[in-house]
Amino acid sequence: MVSKEDIQIKPGKLFINGKWVDSVSGKTFDVLNPATEEVLTSVAEGDKADIDLAVSAARKAFEKGPWKKMDARERGKILLKIMELIEKNKDELALLETMDNGKPISETTNADLPLVIDCLLYYAGWADKIHGETIPVRGEYFNYTTREPVGVVGQIVPWNFPLLMAAWKIAPALACGNTVVFKPAEQTPLTVLRLGEICQEAGLPDGVLNIVPGYGPTAGAALAEHMDVDKIAFTGENATGQIIMRAASKNLKRISLELGGKSPNIVFADSDIDSAVAGAMTGIFFNQGEVCCAGSRLFIEKSIHDEFVEKLSDKTAGMRVGDPVDADTQMGAQVSKEQFDKILGYIDAGKQEGAKLVTGGERCGERGYFIKPTIFDAVDNNMKIAREEIFGPVVSTISFDDIDEMVRQSNLSIFGLAAAVWTKDIKKAHRLARDLKAGTIWINTYNAFDAASPFGGFKQSGFGRELGVHALELYTQVKSVWINLGS
Ligand code: NAI
Ligand code: MG
Repeated sequence: MVSKEDIQIKPGKLFINGKWVDSVSGKTFDVLNPATEEVLTSVAEGDKADIDLAVSAARKAFEKGPWKKMDARERGKILLKIMELIEKNKDELALLETMDNGKPISETTNADLPLVIDCLLYYAGWADKIHGETIPVRGEYFNYTTREPVGVVGQIVPWNFPLLMAAWKIAPALACGNTVVFKPAEQTPLTVLRLGEICQEAGLPDGVLNIVPGYGPTAGAALAEHMDVDKIAFTGENATGQIIMRAASKNLKRISLELGGKSPNIVFADSDIDSAVAGAMTGIFFNQGEVCCAGSRLFIEKSIHDEFVEKLSDKTAGMRVGDPVDADTQMGAQVSKEQFDKILGYIDAGKQEGAKLVTGGERCGERGYFIKPTIFDAVDNNMKIAREEIFGPVVSTISFDDIDEMVRQSNLSIFGLAAAVWTKDIKKAHRLARDLKAGTIWINTYNAFDAASPFGGFKQSGFGRELGVHALELYTQVKSVWINLGS
């Protein structure tokens, strides 16, 4: 195991055209450990001038560099090498992520890093399997299609899964032959900067991946507005998604958006109650609730409501919240003071709206952004805490006895990212899988992920699908070629 003392966190720079550089303005910003509120290091702060340099490096690498023209299998090999180096450094990366984000080391070690490694492995395998088709058109023609990279891709991610979101975005983009300008969240730039070093060591050509840490309204906006960027992939809050869409309209760049959620987690009386209790906890407390697909609306069938809430609340009250670096910790710190305050504000709103606070409902300890896992019972689906994304460890339970009415309420949300159903009745499970309006449906499980299975939203949870074969659609465009075989 790597311990806190073993890792040296050096000041972060921008990674542009294969070089580590200061920002044009010379400005830097501090990166905090949310569990201690201490400064971990400072990082160069990118802005429009740096984005311009990064985009021009990515453009040059795309048009003139070896990446796009390289044998596809060689591209795959470089991705595999990146994967191997991540694997070799996985303990260090897990610890760095934990210190930067506040999430428990058990989660970075057992969820984030394995999923990152899997994502690289999966898309390395795709690099030489992306091809077009031949089409039987009318007349004396031979018609075929090719799948080409989109070009220079801008990618903007949030702070909840910093390295994993980087893998989801960078791996398919590179496998398809694009070049990338990547902007991490200002709260959590450290692991992706380390990934930049790893990519360099793996032999990724200069300019193929550029990393520009900085703030949203400056560096992020400059990337989204840039006239020489061909596509933006964004994950984050809905209001930002709207800004990105407007900015992207300037040069009609392609966009894919993975936005918020208010996902229903539905428990029937005929489910295995203990599994469902565990699933309800994973659904909302994993990653301190800072998960876009968190099961934040817990629908419970009336006949088991009391028993279920009692079990859930006993287990929740016993959760170990604290030092994220401790291997036994189950829930760490919220990412920032801003998120901490926002969540406590929602908890106040829940109390004021008359929801019944069952457990939690306050900060935990005096230092660090820790919040006790919180359950509100007797919530009405129209309350603010049931409508808006809290992005914290706060679940709202809503009891139901009529299935159709429950499905109607489940779907009564601007979001549609995920939904889960707990039942032993196979017909009910499939019926709900059909009727729930969400991009992912989990039956008798929660937060199951695989690089091969698509992820993305219905409704205002966004559009475009990441992961799986579907991500190749985001990062390629189709060309149709006609050859006259007649006279
Ligand atoms: P955000 O959407 O503002 O930030 C995400 C990324 O977008 C960051 O890299 C940020 O720098 C960038 N960004 C911000 N403004 C931008 C702009 N004008 N142009 C281009 N890029 C911009 O999310 P934030 O403010 O960190 O979190 C606020 C709330 O959003 C959370 O409380 C949560 O409810 C929600 N959220 C949802 C996420 C999801 O995965 N669905 C992820 C993060 C936040
Ligand atoms: Mg914001």
